[in-house]
Amino acid sequence: MDAKTLESEAMSAISGSATLAELDDARVRYLGRKSELAQALRDVRDRETGMVLNPIRERLEAKVEARRQALERAELDRRLREERVDVTLPGQEYRVGTLHPTTQIRRIVEDAFLGLGYEIIDDREVETVHYNFDQLAFPPAHPTRSPRDTFFIDPERLLRTETSPSQIHTMEAKKPPIYMVSIGRTYRRDEITATRFPIFHQFEGLAVDHGITLADLKGTLLHVMRALFGDDREVRFRTHYFPFTEPSIEPDVSCPNCNFAGCRMCKFTGWIELGGAGMVDPQVFVNVDLDPEEWSGFAFGVGLERSAQLRHDITEIRPFWENDLRVLRQF
Ligand code: DAH
Repeated sequence: MDAKTLESEAMSAISGSATLAELDDARVRYLGRKSELAQALRDVRDRETGMVLNPIRERLEAKVEARRQALERAELDRRLREERVDVTLPGQEYRVGTLHPTTQIRRIVEDAFLGLGYEIIDDREVETVHYNFDQLAFPPAHPTRSPRDTFFIDPERLLRTETSPSQIHTMEAKKPPIYMVSIGRTYRRDEITATRFPIFHQFEGLAVDHGITLADLKGTLLHVMRALFGDDREVRFRTHYFPFTEPSIEPDVSCPNCNFAGCRMCKFTGWIELGGAGMVDPQVFVNVDLDPEEWSGFAFGVGLERSAQLRHDITEIRPFWENDLRVLRQF
């Protein structure tokens, strides 16, 4: 092939290469060691031929270099265009899990009592008639002893209806002074309604020592209620009856929602019912071999879901058991 034809063929191959790989193929074909041009250059014997072929090689080399730069620039442009990051786009939300509202309330209660030096215990959920009723001085014909109210496993064993049996286990296991809180699930054969659910949580407190009085109970509940519902809360007692306390009372907390202004949550009374409490009945001390002349104590039981409802102004108990993530994520 004559030199002019070769050059123009090589030039169009170089400028026609669309990628760096194609460009390299063209370079090998027209400038490589085995190319026609390289062989011709090796065979050069006279000055004139050299003066024709060498400039062709130089022009082709310059062309390859120019084409390489053009292709590299185009490649860079393409990447800049395609991989561009729009820093003004909103970021992707990174979801962090949260504790279940019941667990959150449980931790507040635990912290409040640990601060008072109480021991936190986690007791059994399957109880016996002996611990759930007899030792707590429930009379033989008390309605909650009936299978209509309570989940029995067999005539002797049942799902505990309250956390109060923990009082008995604790007093049997160690001598006073006792300051304990037992938190856990309790079970009752209730229809599911807005405010009742067959499983719920309670926290149960027991203090046994020399010279414990109702005033100690009031101060203790006040401390926990303020931890749960804010520093301005007040506590009052109404008389009531429980088989295992004497006197028995129902504590109320001042409404965290309206602060005595009156609202739907407290039914315009300014007070909200919390659960049960009282001074440990002498019969219960006798049942666990403690001398009621020597020891005195108070006990209380409060619903955890109910506390969470009050804290978050939730009218139903069901959301605590349905585990709908759209609800749980709000806490
Ligand atoms: N166990 C009672 C209930 O579930 C609440 C209760 C009342 C617990 C008085 C106590 C207490 O410790 O002293 O309704």
